[in-house]
Amino acid sequence: MPKVRITETVLRDAGQSLIATRLPYAKFEGALEMLDRAGYYSLECWGGATFDTCLRFLGEDPWKRLRDIKKRVTKTKLQMLLRGQNLLGYKHYPDDVVRRFVELSVKNGVDIIRIFDALNDVRNLEVSVKETIKHGGDAQVTISYTQSPVHNEATWAKMIKQIEEMGATSIAIKDMAGILAPKECYDFVKLIKENTKLPLHLHTHSTTGLAFMTYLKGVEAGADCIDTAISCRSGGTSQPATETLVHALEQFGYETGLDRAVLKEINDYFRPVQEEYIKNGLLDPKVMMTDADALTYQIPGGMLSNLISQLKQMNAMDKFSAVLEETPRVREDLGYPPLVTPTSQMVGVQAVNNVLAGERYKNVTKEVTAYLRGEYGLPPGKVSEELIQKVLGDEKPCTDRFAATLADGFEAGKKEIGAKARSDEDVLSYIVFPQVYEKFVDEREERERNRVRYSIVKA
Ligand code: CO
Repeated sequence: MPKVRITETVLRDAGQSLIATRLPYAKFEGALEMLDRAGYYSLECWGGATFDTCLRFLGEDPWKRLRDIKKRVTKTKLQMLLRGQNLLGYKHYPDDVVRRFVELSVKNGVDIIRIFDALNDVRNLEVSVKETIKHGGDAQVTISYTQSPVHNEATWAKMIKQIEEMGATSIAIKDMAGILAPKECYDFVKLIKENTKLPLHLHTHSTTGLAFMTYLKGVEAGADCIDTAISCRSGGTSQPATETLVHALEQFGYETGLDRAVLKEINDYFRPVQEEYIKNGLLDPKVMMTDADALTYQIPGGMLSNLISQLKQMNAMDKFSAVLEETPRVREDLGYPPLVTPTSQMVGVQAVNNVLAGERYKNVTKEVTAYLRGEYGLPPGKVSEELIQKVLGDEKPCTDRFAATLADGFEAGKKEIGAKARSDEDVLSYIVFPQVYEKFVDEREERERNRVRYSIVKA
């Protein structure tokens, strides 16, 4: 029987897409043993926004969370999402920091690192890919899927070859906006299969309602693995449902290796958790609605909710449709970057600025300025000359790999944070999110003092 592997996203992307990653470890700890027993190919459980959210909102040490998961999940591979040279932050970090981060991710328990670059600039993937392999991890190199006049079969075929040459152990299509249609997916999978023998993983979102069909056609074309979410946390901006796909695929004669009785246990575990988030308002029903408009605007779910909250804060929701129309124009000016972290935020905020100021590029954000300087890599298409001239004047953009121009950062960061870091993992948390980490440590110390006080009182 042909096999299809399944990656479960309930611990990472499902939560990131539906409830802004606000799921503390304590709320999923009880499901880990079941998740390990179900027969998944891998559990996506770390990286992406989880790292930032742990430190910023949940008062959790992300490294400890990873080790705790690893202790309980002993058979199934753990998977993380890494933004290449951006690590889990929003700008490029020096190579020594990237290498140390990857090394410690593997040493703390990650088996598969899915690595992407927001511009599909392969130079930004190489350091993390090499380091992953060096430490025995699976380097899953990812194409950030997008549609534009400068993205065509030839661009993708070239990237696929480069991914193979880089030494990737598997390849993935990452469709963050859920715009990859069944026919496009079928053709894309065929194209990849013609150009490489690497195992192919598909990642999409249910945002536009295409996902089930897209996966089915992708599998038919030869995809080896799909990303799904347990049913009560699936749909909308999350992934399509695990159980439903298993049901459909098995009828076609595919073996998924998943135990349906265990899938039911997992779903029964998460259903009350999901209901709690509906009651406390963290799950906005809007994210569960099929959004066919996204087919036109190509805006990922997370970016859309950011735009809405930004406009609400500024009391400017009446400008929403103007911002939606400005977004593709800004993207065009910037040479059609795929909209994914951090370019999605960059393009979104600039579009809001352009509309609210009543004049395009009157206020240019520091991220767009850095982008124009070449600090994120090579844009896929031509950047507006007029915009470069306006923002940079005579300054020439950097065309080398930007990180190669940065001085080493690990030792300097270690010195800077001093005793507030208890380990090299802490130093990395500090380097990637300096203010957030310091606040996290201050609060942690406060909590520990309270605990000591409490135990003295009790004694
Ligand atoms: Co995703």
